[in-house]
Amino acid sequence: MAMTITEFRARKSSGKKLALLTSYDAPTARALEAAEIDAILIGDSVGTNVLGYDSVTQVTVNDIVHHARAVARGAPDTLLIADLPFLSFQASDSQALHNSRRIIQRGQVQAVKLEGGRAVENRVRTIVAAGVPVMGHLGLTPQSVHQLGGFKAQARDYNTARALLDDALALEAAGAFAIVIEAIPHELGKLVTERLSIPTIGIGAGPDCDGEIQVLHDIAGWNLDFLPRHSKRFGDSAKATTYIAEQYIEAVRQKDFPTISNSVRMPQDIIARLDSN
Ligand code: KIV
Repeated sequence: MAMTITEFRARKSSGKKLALLTSYDAPTARALEAAEIDAILIGDSVGTNVLGYDSVTQVTVNDIVHHARAVARGAPDTLLIADLPFLSFQASDSQALHNSRRIIQRGQVQAVKLEGGRAVENRVRTIVAAGVPVMGHLGLTPQSVHQLGGFKAQARDYNTARALLDDALALEAAGAFAIVIEAIPHELGKLVTERLSIPTIGIGAGPDCDGEIQVLHDIAGWNLDFLPRHSKRFGDSAKATTYIAEQYIEAVRQKDFPTISNSVRMPQDIIARLDSN
């Protein structure tokens, strides 16, 4: 059974940390469910990790729905949260509600995540009032990367740290069930975690958040050219796949694969008849 939002929130006081990962497809979702991950995020990072886009700002609601459905088929018993992509919720409460409905109903997920603080608190309130659980996202918010001037740590001085804390409190008051805090000083991650009654999910926010989220493609070694400072490779999927492909190519060239045992058989008399005509 998938963890409920109530159980997710209750983990804050239990002291047992929440571990979340991204997934965009059925096989990896199945693998994460087998590992008993607490929740899966169908993040807009699908754009840069899988779809070959330059930026997450190109990701559409249809992209999220398409990948969320695949994840839902692979991990039917895991809590699934999907991103509201860039410009899919900022225009109005009704746009935010319309796109949340598409993602929840067509994408078959239980909750949505959106980026922003006080600027989107009314969106959060509206979506939550409609019955959709909302996760916030503060700090380094990749959808605003052009405004932030690149992928840089955020909230490093008093004013920006104060603004982030106020944003977090506003999201909590608006009904968010958890907040991702990305790329901020670990001392601030700890302070925000202590001030909120909902779980903080860190990514580059230090060890004191209530949970952690990472991009599967980073920790599994799919992105060989770059690893964010806040991540760590726990395996070498790209290298393992190259090795598997090399073994396969060699076996085909050496005529070691396929063998008769990989194919179905036909009675000899049929072959003899075919051969004689
Ligand atoms: O899209 C994503 O993968 C995310 C995580 C980095 C939190 O938003």
